[in-house]
Amino acid sequence: MLSVPSTSNPADQPTRKFSATTKPFPVGEERLHHVMTPHVVVMVGLPARGKTYMAKKLTRYLNWIGIKTKVFNLGEYRRRVTTMYKNHNFFRSDNSEAMIVRQQCAIKALEDVCKWLKAENGEVAVFDATNTTLERRKLIHSIVVGQMGCKLFYVESICEDQSIIESNIMEVKVNGPDYKGISAEVALKDFLLRIDHYKREYQPLDEEKEDHLSFMKIYNTGEKVVVHKHEGHVQARIVYYLMNIHVTPRSIYLSRHGESMHNVEGRIGGDTDLSNRGLQYRDELANYINSQNIPHLRVWTSWLKRTLQTASKIKAPQERWKALNEIDAGVCEELTYAEIKEKYPADFEARDLDKLTYRYPRGESYEDLIARLEPVIMELERQANVLVVAHQAVLRCLLAYFMDKPLEALPYIHVPLHTVIKLTPVAYGCKVEYVDLQVPSVNTHRGKPRVPGALESPEALGQSGLHPEEQDHNTSYEIPTSSVIDTHYEAHTSGVIDNRSLAS
Ligand code: ATP
Ligand code: F6P
Repeated sequence: MLSVPSTSNPADQPTRKFSATTKPFPVGEERLHHVMTPHVVVMVGLPARGKTYMAKKLTRYLNWIGIKTKVFNLGEYRRRVTTMYKNHNFFRSDNSEAMIVRQQCAIKALEDVCKWLKAENGEVAVFDATNTTLERRKLIHSIVVGQMGCKLFYVESICEDQSIIESNIMEVKVNGPDYKGISAEVALKDFLLRIDHYKREYQPLDEEKEDHLSFMKIYNTGEKVVVHKHEGHVQARIVYYLMNIHVTPRSIYLSRHGESMHNVEGRIGGDTDLSNRGLQYRDELANYINSQNIPHLRVWTSWLKRTLQTASKIKAPQERWKALNEIDAGVCEELTYAEIKEKYPADFEARDLDKLTYRYPRGESYEDLIARLEPVIMELERQANVLVVAHQAVLRCLLAYFMDKPLEALPYIHVPLHTVIKLTPVAYGCKVEYVDLQVPSVNTHRGKPRVPGALESPEALGQSGLHPEEQDHNTSYEIPTSSVIDTHYEAHTSGVIDNRSLAS
């Protein structure tokens, strides 16, 4: 049994103990899957300070770079075990009945953190709760470090800008699960009173009293950042990532290059010119983007001719990124899939068996591509409005990050030619709009065949007729925090003519 240390507050006394084992986490050979000691990232801060936002975003990023991460949100535990919450009084520190429930929930969540890290080979668990007292943090430390043998890193969000706090409450709290059927006005008042209860007990992370802890403090959505005793590679990445994100509204537009001569012939890779239909898309893309009057838009392309040509008529500053070049197919460059199957049958089959990790001889894998694209993601996080004109495999990687797709689904994400994908951050996720610029093109998507290495027609693979997101839903991958809108843009008219909401 993991024991829970006694605390001075009687209401903090748990009514039951951990059921998980006290044995610290195995290391070395025992824990072959892990390249590192498991971490628990603990959020700290008053309500409506963006803790859940950062926890979810950080989790999405770490999963995308291949570090298995999961959020444990204490609010969800509380709602699962009790219907006691009626209003802000639940959060008073002198409400001893509620304090016991809150403590039990925290312990249950930590127990699940422990089980997940141990039994499911989790690498980073993010404990998303307020954790605003020294007492609570002592409890967490004794369990996570003392008993589980994990590394612990705190992320505190501090924000005293009342306008940010109220807009956060309006954006994500007043329509949240605690306020079903309650007016926004009443919910806002109640939530502000809830914050007041927390403020009375709040003890920010203290560099002297908690000198032994590793933590970072983020002030006013990133205006200032303080980092204290961070250790090792994972914590360094967490710090760097959280320093780069921002909450200023903006959109990211993604487009593949227009249809190329190699696309027409079914050849992969290479550096060919656009086809006539590709040139038509170049014109329509410029019409569309120029007509949107997107403030301070920047256009990023790869170094390959087809993306430079596609972006050439857009009126906005342009930057070229070698990192945006298409996946390098090595010895298979400029072959058709049928030619690859004929010349390298074992490789063709191996790729179907594990497309994420398969590396083309003298070329790259999707995993390599993710690593190559990490600086692009980091820079996208720092930027305002950006249009990225790139390639099928590259855009799959970027979309997987923004849409929080599991890595195994990534190499099969549908990124049609001649379509702009507009991503707009909303609440904890991203609104995704597909704008079809109505220029015909070939379909270059090769889905996962039923038999590895088989050359099936797009029809046999179920690729025709279905919207990309419908296909993804068919393979039962969900987009928990995103919504997808399918839009057809009619060239030469004033804008969008048909909106179809597919998921929310
Ligand atoms: P609670 O303790 O009630 O769960 P919370 O701290 O988890 O609240 P969130 O639910 O994450 O708060 O609030 C989301 C809002 O916070 C979003 O509108 C987002 O734009 C905003 N936000 C994101 N980062 C920060 C930050 N560093 N400081 C303040 N607000 C932020
Ligand atoms: O066919 C167009 C293309 O961009 C190729 O250059 C690239 O090799 C391929 O798509 C990537 O798609 P997949 O990983 O499905 O082969």
